[in-house]
Formats: sequence, C-alpha cells, structure tokens
Amino acid sequence: MKGMFPLHRFRDLPTPFYYYDTDLLRQTTDTVRREAGKYEDFVVHYAVKANANPKILGMICASGLGADCVSGGEIQACLDAGFSPNKIVYAGVGKSDWEINLALEAGIFCFNVESMPELEIINELAAAKNVTAGICLRINPDVDAHTHANITTGLAENKFGIAMNEMETAVLKATSLSNINFMGLHFHIGSQILEMNDFEKLCNRINALQDLLEARGIVVKELNVGGGLGVDYEVPDQHPIPDFETYFATYHHHLKRRPGQRVHFELGRAIVAQMGTLISRTLYVKQGTHKKFAILDAGMTELIRPALYQALHKIENLSSKAPQERYDVVGPICESSDVFAKDYLLNQLHRGDLVAIRSSGAYGESMASQYNCRKLPKSYTPEDLQDCQCHKI
Ligand code: LLP
Repeated sequence: MKGMFPLHRFRDLPTPFYYYDTDLLRQTTDTVRREAGKYEDFVVHYAVKANANPKILGMICASGLGADCVSGGEIQACLDAGFSPNKIVYAGVGKSDWEINLALEAGIFCFNVESMPELEIINELAAAKNVTAGICLRINPDVDAHTHANITTGLAENKFGIAMNEMETAVLKATSLSNINFMGLHFHIGSQILEMNDFEKLCNRINALQDLLEARGIVVKELNVGGGLGVDYEVPDQHPIPDFETYFATYHHHLKRRPGQRVHFELGRAIVAQMGTLISRTLYVKQGTHKKFAILDAGMTELIRPALYQALHKIENLSSKAPQERYDVVGPICESSDVFAKDYLLNQLHRGDLVAIRSSGAYGESMASQYNCRKLPKSYTPEDLQDCQCHKI
C-alpha cells in the first residue's frame, strides 16, 4: 500500500534505510497481548534476534512482553532498553563464559541449556558467584517444520538442543547440581511456519515427553515452546498482523498442561516483520542480453534473506505508476546472489525512483553487514521524520 509511506518525507533522505511503521508495531503487540491473554499463564517473549534496533526494543519492552536472547550482546541490549531481568530468557548452543556471567549477574529468569557440558559450566560459574541459575533444558524434538532447510532447528540432524534419548539423564543431572534450579523444558522447531499442524505435532511430542518425566516424579513447571509463527510475505497488506488467534489457540487445545504450569513463547518474525520496509533508490536500469536489470542502491548487505534463503519480499516502485515491466531486481554488491527478485513485474523504473522492499522488519537490520565496506543503514520511524531537520519538505 503506497499510501502508508510519507513519500514527501522520504524524498531527500539518503538511501537505503529501514522505515519502521510504529503504529503497526503497536497494533501487533496489542494483538499478541490480547490473544495470549485469553489463556492463563501464556507468557510471550520477543525474540530479539529478529530486530534489536533500540527504538523497536524500547517499544516492545513498553508493551509488556519479555525478551528471548541468544547472546550477551542481546542481553545487554535488552537491559539497556529497560527489560526487567526476570523477563529475559537466554538460549544458544555456544554460550561463552562472559555471556553466562553477564546473565548470572543480571539475574535473568532462565537459561535454555543446550547440552550437558553447558549445564556443568553454568553450575560452576553460578557456584563461583554463590547464586542459583534457573534453567530449562532445550530438547531437540525431532519435529519437521515445513520451512526452508536453513531455518529448521528441531530435526535430529540440527545442532540445537539435547537429543530426546538424553533427556532423562540430563534432567536427573540438572536436579542433582547444587547451583542449578531445574524449571522445565524448552523447544523450538523452526521459523516462518505457517502450518498449524507443525505446532500441533510439537505439542504431541511435548505431551509424550512430559508423561515420561512425570512417571519418574519430575515436575515441569515451565514449558517453553519457542517461536516460529510465519508471516505473509506475498501480500503483506492483506495480512499485516499474523494470525495470533489461531496460533495461541492451537497450543491451548493441543498441549496437555499440568496445573500451575506456565507456557512461554518466543516470537520474533511475527511481531516485527510487517512493520519494516527497506527503502531504496534505483541507480540504473540496464538492458542485458535477455532481460532488464533494475539496479538498486540496497543489496544483500541490508536484506540478506533473498540471497540466503531464496526468500521473495514484495517490491514496489513508490515513485511511478507507469505501465509494468519485468526486471531482475538486483543490488550493487559483488556477489551473483545479490538478487532481490527475478522477472519481477514493477511499474516502469527510472533512475532515482524510490523502491520499497516490504516485510523487512525481521532479520533485515539485525542481519545487515558491512561487506564491501558499506555503511550500516539508518532506520526511521514516522516520529523521527516529523521533526527531521535533515531534509527539505
Ligand atoms: N526461539 C529460538 C530458540 C530461535 O532459534 C528462534 C529463531 C526464535 C525463537 C524466533 O523465531 P521466529 O519467531 O522469528 O521465527 N534469519 C532467518 C530466521 C532464523 C531464525 C533463527 N531462530 C530468516 O530470516 O528467515
């Protein structure tokens, strides 16, 4: 929807930049809170890896959600943004000692522990500080989420979590360590999942694992089911807010919860993808042997998803309504994979036309790089542009 962009404010801004629709973000976090709030003890953590921009983190913190972090840097960013440590969970297969120490000193709610050796190190580091670390064990549930191979995490062949057949040994170990407080189990099957059936399968797996532990007299107080809810990249205007209602209802109906048990979610993409747009300028239109290339000033350095996962983000010419033509829409980076879309229909492009690459709020800015010595781009919200002195309106 071109009307959603303050084009007159974009005109003189240096490109590329991310534009964050803060109204949509507010509506999205309101919807998450309303839908999760229908069920007792459903706790939602925002997966910071999707977008760690301080303005965005500040807004998400203010909305009351917790945070799911995967590094010391993310924990620090959340503390700086004002998240209360007891709303922070921390996962990751390779936690360094300094990161564990930072988390222990901050007093975060829970470590999601991914291996037995990690469990021992957390116990040692906690003992040295004379504190107890709350932990959930991340179990690899071997559930196939039907998504791109690079973003499935819950298959036996993936590096994440503790194998199911190791679960009982790991739980017994966790309950025996002096400076560990075993709180429960953590899972995450993958990302950009649109089939509710995949989440249902995860619920069934969790139910079976819980039965197993219960037979041994082990209580699971906290269940963390991870994130993964996908978004509509094809028609973002029709579905600016993902279907959180069905998502939470799926867990409510299929998870056999024990009395007093809390269920934690770690949603990233679903919260921030649609509020973000990468705004770029057309540098050149080049006639190749067989096709036309639209060469933009944004590339895989600002949005790596197409190059890494063959993802297709909706692209729009914001400057013209001229009849459509087909283009290979490419960036300026010296890599053949620096392509946003092939044979893509766009209103005829000219040098200087502004181009929007939609649904770029998740895994855009947070995965940006300085490859080719490029500068990291800026981001703007409508609020920033209202009192922006850097351009003539
Ligand atoms: N929890 C854990 C343990 C995770 O590993 C992830 C994502 C999430 C939560 C959040 O998943 P979400 O709700 O955003 O799907 N760069 C890729 C996505 C990688 C996701 C990695 N883990 C992309 O651009 O598609």
